[in-house]
Amino acid sequence: MSHADDNAGTRRDFLYYATAGAGAVATGAAVWPLVNQMNPSADTRALSSIFVDVSAVEVGTQLTVKWLGKPVFIRRRAPEEIEAARATALTDLPDPRAENANIQAEADASDTNRSLDEAGEWLVMMGVCTHLGCVPLGDGAGDFGGWFCPCHGSHYDTSGRIRKGPAPRNLPVPVAKFEDETTIKLG
Ligand code: FES
Repeated sequence: MSHADDNAGTRRDFLYYATAGAGAVATGAAVWPLVNQMNPSADTRALSSIFVDVSAVEVGTQLTVKWLGKPVFIRRRAPEEIEAARATALTDLPDPRAENANIQAEADASDTNRSLDEAGEWLVMMGVCTHLGCVPLGDGAGDFGGWFCPCHGSHYDTSGRIRKGPAPRNLPVPVAKFEDETTIKLG
């Protein structure tokens, strides 16, 4: 091997490693925030709890708050919404699971397993369509009087359960509870 060949080889190796190194750094930078968000530590979770004053929410209306970067629907349902949700047969539900972070994963999607209080007046859900993540429209929208996602036509009922359209799952109920009579704690 001549001296010149030896130099060329060294130079090729150097370029190769430099490029690989830069690639690894770029990938790391892009992926890390996502991984970090998906695996919040217990400390982060505790800090990310919020308290929502619901004293001004009238019957038959809803409040949308932003939590962990996503909309959360807090609805104070009218009696007819509760009635419609509770009269629905479980066999009519495409997603049979409650999708409620506050109860066991295998619980069924009955309305009592999704509402926050026993009477069913309060319903708290992530306002993110389970199809591709659009924000569904509320206030009685869609064929089932609940929410409608205009992106690809998913209809959710008054319990936020998917009834028609491409969305595969009911709108998820996040960790939530009444802290006092007029305050809901999320997270
Ligand atoms: S994102 Fe809602 S139907 Fe596609």
